[in-house]
Amino acid sequence: MTQVNANVFRQAVLLLSLIGLPSAVFGDAATSAHWMAPEEAARRVNPVPVDSASRERGRKLFEANCVSCHGPTGRGNGPIAARLETLPADLAAMAGQHPDGDFAWKIAEGRGAMPAWKKVLKDKEIWDLVNYIQNLGKSDDSQRGHSHAH
Ligand code: HEC
Repeated sequence: MTQVNANVFRQAVLLLSLIGLPSAVFGDAATSAHWMAPEEAARRVNPVPVDSASRERGRKLFEANCVSCHGPTGRGNGPIAARLETLPADLAAMAGQHPDGDFAWKIAEGRGAMPAWKKVLKDKEIWDLVNYIQNLGKSDDSQRGHSHAH
């Protein structure tokens, strides 16, 4: 897994250097190898308070729309995951690793096998999903925090 990440990272570095992006883009080397929202989108402040009501709305939306691919616990092992060209992201592993705005943008815009949800879900519903996802894989709700460095 680490090896794979390292390879992906090297490819991203190569690609970015080829298209001449300034190295300042690499604010965070650990996440820049990864599909990332544009900086501005990633910086958006989550307008929906992180509370159990929001996470519960997010959980219901997740069950209705996302588990087929991402799996019931967000691990990326839903029933149709294996049939996709790209494996669905392990959202439980990514919880807390990306800013809220980054997840929200990716959910809205989609990429490849990941559908764009902006025409299906309301903005607020996407933020509820973000609040739910950021808490995945944590046993204790109170641990949810803005652990991301940005
Ligand atoms: C048809 C399968 C499918 C469904 C349904 C689906 N996803 Fe995805 N999702 C994917 C795939 C595949 C990726 C990886 C895309 C890539 O990296 O190119 C992904 C990536 C993501 C990411 C990006 C994670 C990251 O940081 O790289 C988020 C967030 C996400 N999905 C959330 C959701 C949410 C929320 C829903 C439900 C509203 C959902 N997905 C429904 C297949 C799906």
